[in-house]
Amino acid sequence: MHLAKTFRYLFIALSISLAATVLPAKQLKVGFAQTGAESAWRTANSESMKSEAKKRGIDLKFSDGQGKQENQIRAVRSFITQRVDAIVIAPIVETGWEPVLREARRAKIPVIITDRTIQTTDDSLFVCFIGSDFLEEGRLAAAWLAKAVNGKGRIVELQGTPGSAPANDRRKAFAEAIATFPNLKIIDSQSGDFRRSGGKEVMEAFLKKHGRNIDIVYAHNDDMALGAVQAIEAAGLKPGTDIKIIAIDAIREGVQAVADGRINCVVECNPLFGSKVYDTIEAILAGKKVPKKVFNKDELFDHTNAAAALPTRQY
Ligand code: AHR
Repeated sequence: MHLAKTFRYLFIALSISLAATVLPAKQLKVGFAQTGAESAWRTANSESMKSEAKKRGIDLKFSDGQGKQENQIRAVRSFITQRVDAIVIAPIVETGWEPVLREARRAKIPVIITDRTIQTTDDSLFVCFIGSDFLEEGRLAAAWLAKAVNGKGRIVELQGTPGSAPANDRRKAFAEAIATFPNLKIIDSQSGDFRRSGGKEVMEAFLKKHGRNIDIVYAHNDDMALGAVQAIEAAGLKPGTDIKIIAIDAIREGVQAVADGRINCVVECNPLFGSKVYDTIEAILAGKKVPKKVFNKDELFDHTNAAAALPTRQY
């Protein structure tokens, strides 16, 4: 009787260890509510999330919000219905997320906010944030500019999507930093929605309105800066010389424009954080504690280092 019992236990133990080695590990299912495809930065970010998921055998449910928060909210609800293991949101705008985050919490699905921060009265509605420090980017841009133009010049600003964290933070930090230079002034500011076409249209309107009274363009992203370059050239002026341009992102085309002298400086905002996001999800699902905020390390490119950086630029 005793021997029979021992054999039974041995058999169960053997079956469990066999199952563990033979059966494949459960495939992770992750839902990602992306903002859209407004810029080259965004394309690189989507690609990083998709290729890293493929590499790790993660079943990624990717949703393109097409620039509308309601599409993103609908996507998150569908991820909840599909019982995904984790939800990742790159929020188009900062506000309006609490109801759907509560739904995810009720379903016990962890939410990771990436790229853009949100405003909420309850920080426990998401596990953590992974992205860049947009305030720091605005500060870096202002500090570089103030030095380059000796604290003097009339600036036009091309803002990102209204209500988005990068537009709010890059505007605020830049304005605060240049406020200490009385001869450095923002004379006009409009949204180009982070799009190249938007940057071109707004710059055309600025040139019409202010003529030669523009010394500097501060663009919240490279795509809008590249659109502004087209508008400035079409007006018979030399971008980078007649009008100085500073932007944020450091996409390859932006860094190339700096190397060519058509843009003067780009502050990096690194979109390649797919692996960091999945590492974090795996840690959360394994019951580990993760930091509430993880900022990517960003650099700055001007005439001193742009050309040298080009061969190794990854996006
Ligand atoms: O949220 C990041 C910003 O969104 C990038 O600077 C911009 O290019 C993008 O569309």
